[in-house]
Amino acid sequence: MNFELTEEQRMIRDTAREFAAREIAPKAAELDKSGRWPAEILAKMAELGLMGVAIPQEHGGAGMDAVSYALAMEEISAGCASCGVIMSVNNSLFCDPLYKFGSDDQKKRVLEPVARGQKLGCFGLTEPMSGSDAQTMITSAEKTSGGWVLNGAKNWITNGPHADWILVFAVTERAVPAGAPAGTPPRVKHTAFLVERGTPGFTQNAADHKLGIHAAHSCTVFFENCKVPDANVVGKAGEGFKIAMATLDGGRIGIACQAIGIARAAFETSVAYAKERKSFGVPIAQHQAIQFMLSDMATQVDAARLLAWRAAAMKDKGVRHTMESSIAKLYASEMATRVTHKAIQVHGGYGYSTEFAVERHYRDARITEIYEGTSEIQRIVIAANVLK
Ligand code: CAA
Repeated sequence: MNFELTEEQRMIRDTAREFAAREIAPKAAELDKSGRWPAEILAKMAELGLMGVAIPQEHGGAGMDAVSYALAMEEISAGCASCGVIMSVNNSLFCDPLYKFGSDDQKKRVLEPVARGQKLGCFGLTEPMSGSDAQTMITSAEKTSGGWVLNGAKNWITNGPHADWILVFAVTERAVPAGAPAGTPPRVKHTAFLVERGTPGFTQNAADHKLGIHAAHSCTVFFENCKVPDANVVGKAGEGFKIAMATLDGGRIGIACQAIGIARAAFETSVAYAKERKSFGVPIAQHQAIQFMLSDMATQVDAARLLAWRAAAMKDKGVRHTMESSIAKLYASEMATRVTHKAIQVHGGYGYSTEFAVERHYRDARITEIYEGTSEIQRIVIAANVLK
């Protein structure tokens, strides 16, 4: 087993680390307090190829692999968790499925500018009454000549208030198979569509108010008799649910790395604080109680990183990594909540103050246990695989 990163992987990690330290981390507290969309940071991230890391260069991306993407996600998220998730949604939930399932025309017309970071993408699966049980969505698309008409709403759409494109999932078939016995439930099929901002009938609400990741705006979006051409169907009609699930296999690696970045930032701040802060006549780092907390934090961040790298390496090999992505996301997100909790403990009263970064890390970490599948959904996916 080889744990060595390639020269290219080290290069993107170091570039992202240096960029995050110089351009992102110094603004993270202000972004959290103001809830301002970090447009100028995203423009620079686009120049570095961070908006389409694992998309081939001919389609507008940086042409790197999923491990490189994992490395970059950790670094950007250590600087600012909001910037991390904006990047993650654009890379994993928009560019990746378009690259895998999109037509040549969609790759040229839509993927290329989004992977370059000139345009922004988002992903519409969740609905007000359909979150974990994603197949129960009610947004529908009806076939008309040359296209489809969409009706429904999607909520918690990260990047929604700013995105130029949404990859949205809708029910396109709900029928009891012919000849089936009475009482047979209808067979539901879903289809993935690309909808461009400005399309008549496609509107966005104002941004949601949240506990953390304040600069990563999300909102509810609506489709009211919204006409979408056939050319904007992604993959085959009726295959949308599988496209959504396969997309989340990649997305969960991104969120695992976001959680690792948040936890690492809280850990590093805690180490620095423990060396400076004195109690009982010595720096608190000399107290075993603090050392044990720091040891546990270091161990857990490392374990989560190895799980995320394994899932990313499997993605690069083209082997199914559904369970490994869920394991990485489950462990990393719960780890981030624990580690940021302990980071506040190391800081004592100061940790509870909004003047110190660890309270922001604590709030930012919490969402990683919820979006792209709650911890409970990850356990369902893992159980389904171990019990096969
Ligand atoms: N890859 C490919 N196909 C898959 C798949 C995968 N990972 N997982 C399932 N499928 C296929 C199955 O093989 C099955 O196909 P057949 O019908 O041909 O057999 C079909 O999809 C249905 O699969 P299941 O029966 O397992 O589906 P289910 O209804 O039991 O649901 C679930 C499974 C895991 C609970 C799923 O609903 C799920 O992941 N829920 C969580 C949703 C989620 O993560 N939402 C996050 C929204 S995005 C977001 O949060 C973005 C953001 O803001 C940052």
